[in-house]
Amino acid sequence: MLTWKLRPWSLDDLESLVKYADNLNIARYLTDMFPHPYTEKDARRFIKMSQIDQPCRIFAIEVNGEAAGGIGIHPQGDIHVKCAELGYWLAESYWGKGIMTGAVKEMTEYAFDKFDILRLYARPFSNNTGSQRVLERTGFKLEARLEKSIYKYGEVLDELIYSMIRV
Ligand SMILES: CC(C)(COP(=O)(O)OP(=O)(O)OC[C@H]1O[C@@H](n2cnc3c(N)ncnc32)[C@H](O)[C@@H]1OP(=O)(O)O)[C@@H](O)C(=O)NCCC(=O)NCCS
Repeated sequence: MLTWKLRPWSLDDLESLVKYADNLNIARYLTDMFPHPYTEKDARRFIKMSQIDQPCRIFAIEVNGEAAGGIGIHPQGDIHVKCAELGYWLAESYWGKGIMTGAVKEMTEYAFDKFDILRLYARPFSNNTGSQRVLERTGFKLEARLEKSIYKYGEVLDELIYSMIRV
């Protein structure tokens, strides 16, 4: 049986973070800010960065006692100060088991509870059916399709914008 929870990252997660994040099948669906290959130096920098903000914005997804993914919100600035972007990834070995659907639900509640935002949004690539399904299942609304907005690994893709608005 799988058990999972969200919790802050710790430097004890270095090994599992590198093990699971160093995967082209994950990097191909994320911006180039997510390194590939994913080294221990990348993991250390990321974990330290995730520990700066209070309240915590970036959580590890712990599955069966091991950090096996990440989910975070990124509050925006300037005129977009009432908006935050949601980002997430999960170790490939745990895909398709409903974990991210649960994690996105939990993170959405946390984001509207702890941050003074009106709008939470995510921007999956058009080839990322899994992420689109997660967002649909958790009540996000498809707002826009930005045609040919993305160039990733030699391929031109559309970008989809899904949002959840505070009522
Ligand atoms: C996208 C991702 C987060 C999905 O996580 P997950 O835990 O496997 O998602 P869930 O198990 O909660 O799946 C939710 C739904 O999506 C479907 N789904 C998941 N992966 C899928 C895929 N690759 N293709 C088609 N459907 C998929 C599931 O079958 C489920 O559908 P259902 O409600 O009809 O049963 C995971 O595949 C991942 O980390 N991908 C790489 C990084 C990434 O894409 N991040 C998001 C960037 S926007």
